[in-house]
Amino acid sequence: MYKQKETGIETEVDPRLAFAREEKKHVHDFRQRFDGSSTAYQVLHGVDLSGKYALITGSNVGIGYETAKSLARHGCKILFANRNMESTQKAIKEIVKETNADEENLKAVHLDLASLESVKKCALSVETLFSSHLDIVILNAGVFGIPYMLTEDNYETTFQVNHLSHMYLALLLEPLLKKGSRVVFVSSESHRFAYLKDAFRNETLEVTEEQYRYVMAYNNSKLFNVITAKILSEEWKSKGISVNSVHPGNMVSSELSRSWWFFRLAFFLVRPFTKSLQQAAATTVYVATYWDLENVTGLYFNNCFYCEPSALASNKEIGAEIFRISLNMIETRMGGDLIQKYIDKYNLNTDERK
Ligand SMILES: NC(=O)c1ccc[n+]([C@@H]2O[C@H](COP(=O)([O-])OP(=O)(O)OC[C@H]3O[C@@H](n4cnc5c(N)ncnc54)[C@H](OP(=O)(O)O)[C@@H]3O)[C@@H](O)[C@H]2O)c1
Repeated sequence: MYKQKETGIETEVDPRLAFAREEKKHVHDFRQRFDGSSTAYQVLHGVDLSGKYALITGSNVGIGYETAKSLARHGCKILFANRNMESTQKAIKEIVKETNADEENLKAVHLDLASLESVKKCALSVETLFSSHLDIVILNAGVFGIPYMLTEDNYETTFQVNHLSHMYLALLLEPLLKKGSRVVFVSSESHRFAYLKDAFRNETLEVTEEQYRYVMAYNNSKLFNVITAKILSEEWKSKGISVNSVHPGNMVSSELSRSWWFFRLAFFLVRPFTKSLQQAAATTVYVATYWDLENVTGLYFNNCFYCEPSALASNKEIGAEIFRISLNMIETRMGGDLIQKYIDKYNLNTDERK
């Protein structure tokens, strides 16, 4: 007879067998346990996240909201890093109502990814507002299909919101990450259609207004997500910090299509054939929490399993160049404060290559 200490429940079968774990010989010995139809709740079945601290960007709506809700349901403490505080408070109330999560565990911080200053302010306030360390960081926020617009830093908006600001945020959060922490960049299969022909001209990765195509801007930003995750995974491997990127699903009904009625219609028409928000959150939740992925780093995941990214995303030279230019673009606006070691290292590596 087995008796659970906390609840006093008695069973004749060892309850731990329900969630038995195999011994792994190598970090990368993990097999497929879920697929494209799995939900975040299925991935989290039997998982206790109490005592874990997560920061999630873009968590007031869409896939980010579903991700936050799923983690909160399992006891995770969450910092919602969003630009719309009113909608974030509503989202928190909704999650508490739906999951019975403790409202004390769900906090919000303002983050506008169209402002590098806001990114810095957000990163530096995490410790006082929330926690001295983060177990999970999910860089999920994103825009798609928007017209050409400049941010307050004078960079093209899709480029900065989806890539540059998230990269800066990850770098600034590094002191809060520890052995076992996991960082997830929410990318997209769209990264396969990136086009970098003019990317290295003039030391800038964004395009001019004349060259701007919203789909290409999105595809490129998603490629930069995969590349940034890969580079940071190598940078932080020795510290035991895992960094991976994921594709949540194709044309998932969220707010992503809000920029144009045509996108709204297209997303609505394909709705019966695409993933639900619960399914779309599954891969992120899997990579952020699953025990089998402990120390697994530098990979790209789709449908809750490892998947080979595009050839461009796997090209080390191009990756290093993109990382270097991005660092220099951040430095131009914000100075090298807190990221100087990376600026020096990547510029030095380029000089050596010349
Ligand atoms: N939906 C899909 O089919 C699909 C497919 C592949 C990849 N993805 C990726 O999945 C992620 C989540 O997308 P989603 O479908 O859930 O889209 P969504 O519903 O539109 O959510 C996007 C989130 O990003 C936030 N955001 C946008 N601009 C921001 C800014 N300047 N500063 C801070 N936050 C900002 C939004 O906040 P506001 O509410 O304040 O605007 C919202 O919380 C994105 O990275 C997207 O590229 C989605």
